[in-house]
Amino acid sequence: MAGDPYFLTDLIVDCGVFYLFLEGTYSCPGKRLALMTAKMVLVYTVYYYDFSFTLGEDGTAISRDKCDKVILYAGPLKCSFQKL
Ligand code: HEM
Repeated sequence: MAGDPYFLTDLIVDCGVFYLFLEGTYSCPGKRLALMTAKMVLVYTVYYYDFSFTLGEDGTAISRDKCDKVILYAGPLKCSFQKL
């Protein structure tokens, strides 16, 4: 619907998808830096560590327990890392 800022919500096909940078009212000027840093952390972690969720962790709390107070606070995510 033209002029309706919320019409894009009609296009969402999977509500389980979670994209951090679309949270909140403002846009994030640090998005590119954050994504580049996250990629480097991920690459080094996969390369140097064996990792898994801790007992009882299923990966849902990081989104379910998030708190948006201008700065977005993610919920907990408990993982264990074993250096290879
Ligand atoms: C994984 C890392 C990051 C995530 C998930 C993230 C996410 C976000 C989100 C969702 C917002 C909007 C908040 C709202 O409207 O309530 C925001 C705002 C902002 N972010 Fe980020 N951000 C990240 C990293 C960074 C970095 C690295 C910088 C700076 C170097 C940065 C600077 C800012 C600033 C200044 C704002 C406020 C913009 C405004 O008020 O107009 N962020 N961020």
